[in-house]
Amino acid sequence: MTDNTMQINSIIEALEIEGLTHDGRGVSHVNGKTLFVNGAVPGDIVTAKVRQLHDKFNEADCLTIEQASSERVTPFCPVYEQCGGCQLQHLSIQSQRHWKSHNFITRLTQAVDSKQCETVDSLVSDDQNYRRRARLGLVISKKDKVARLGFRQQGSNELIDIEQCPVLTPALNKAIQTHRDALLETASRAYKEITFVEADNGVFGEAINASKTEPENLPFYTLNTPASINSAHTLPLRFDFHEEGFIQVNAPLNQAMVTQALSWLDLKSDHKVLDLFCGIGNFTLPIAQQVATTVGIEGEQSLVEIATHNADINQLEGVHFSKANLFNDMTPLPWFKNNQYDRILLDPGRQGAFDLCKTLGKLQAQIIVYVSCNSATLIRDIKELEKQGYRLTKAGLIDMFPHTTHTEVMVQLTKTHKAAKKVKKRPNFKI
Ligand SMILES: C[S@@+](CC[C@H](N)C(=O)[O-])C[C@H]1O[C@@H](n2cnc3c(N)ncnc32)[C@H](O)[C@@H]1O
Repeated sequence: MTDNTMQINSIIEALEIEGLTHDGRGVSHVNGKTLFVNGAVPGDIVTAKVRQLHDKFNEADCLTIEQASSERVTPFCPVYEQCGGCQLQHLSIQSQRHWKSHNFITRLTQAVDSKQCETVDSLVSDDQNYRRRARLGLVISKKDKVARLGFRQQGSNELIDIEQCPVLTPALNKAIQTHRDALLETASRAYKEITFVEADNGVFGEAINASKTEPENLPFYTLNTPASINSAHTLPLRFDFHEEGFIQVNAPLNQAMVTQALSWLDLKSDHKVLDLFCGIGNFTLPIAQQVATTVGIEGEQSLVEIATHNADINQLEGVHFSKANLFNDMTPLPWFKNNQYDRILLDPGRQGAFDLCKTLGKLQAQIIVYVSCNSATLIRDIKELEKQGYRLTKAGLIDMFPHTTHTEVMVQLTKTHKAAKKVKKRPNFKI
């Protein structure tokens, strides 16, 4: 079939699936044009039906699997087909990790100067029972008037009832089972979200703690920081947090991620380090254990307060937190203006840090470590940092959310070039 003859509803037989998109669809080619195939995985040979035509690619649905890929596996969750929480359980965990890393590294190295880049092994941990925090919906369905507690169904606003979820930690599952019936009795037509979070001191959430948690009884987690550069033993850190504020949900991988970030920052005891989008100080405090001065910047006032509290309870000195909306112009702010830093770490949300990255070079850091949950905004931001003399020197995947299409990545950028000179616009002469 030539591409010109491909039409909506065309049936394509014996289609070999060569790759996986970032959102979990199979990738194939028909007469040189890319075809994304819903429901197919790399290694499958399928019959597909064309669904939509575009200029640069087409889309199809898998009708039948003629020959299943050796990477196909039986999903371990009984409600996988209906639940919108996981998207990749039908693909082996090894293959998921391969394609997540391959897609990220290929896209990154094609988009930015990667001549000096070392690609590192992905950080991985257990692929089940890994989430220590869950936000479940609670509502009486308008459709069938049934009360449900669970996650959103795929492609629908209805909930799928969850009694236990195999990617949640055992303690969370136990708490959900314990409180399920009582919660269902309180359900109404108004959609509500119920948070459960497993801390080192128990499982928390409004369903469990009827009264507000007292400050001395906040949930907390501990991080074992790697050996300090300036003392033989670094003590584990305690992080208090509020149930609703941001925390990293995969505890073992958070530990591995922080350890890798500290190593990539290549810290020296006299360094001054800036941690942007710092949350409760997840990276800031381990950094502060190793260097003279650390500054953490965060947009949520409640997180700034708890980060400061965390520095106090861990008896850390030389660490200071400040509130700022990092999407605004930072150059007039005291921590930016007339300041230099040896190292910068940034860990923004999905939107990235475009405007900030345009000015970050002014701070003169030799190394920037950027942790990202969105490769597209990361690549966009690296291009801004390249203009200021930074080049990509390390990159790797962190498989923080196995069986979902979400990815977390880390890159290291090193100042190896002079900043590109801005070309001055010629004045417009009137004749
Ligand atoms: C991905 S989280 C990382 C938090 C922290 N680094 C950690 O590992 O726990 C991103 C953080 O950026 C903060 N944030 C989001 N938008 C922001 C903004 N415009 N200005 C400053 N902080 C922002 C969020 O409150 C959140 O704490």
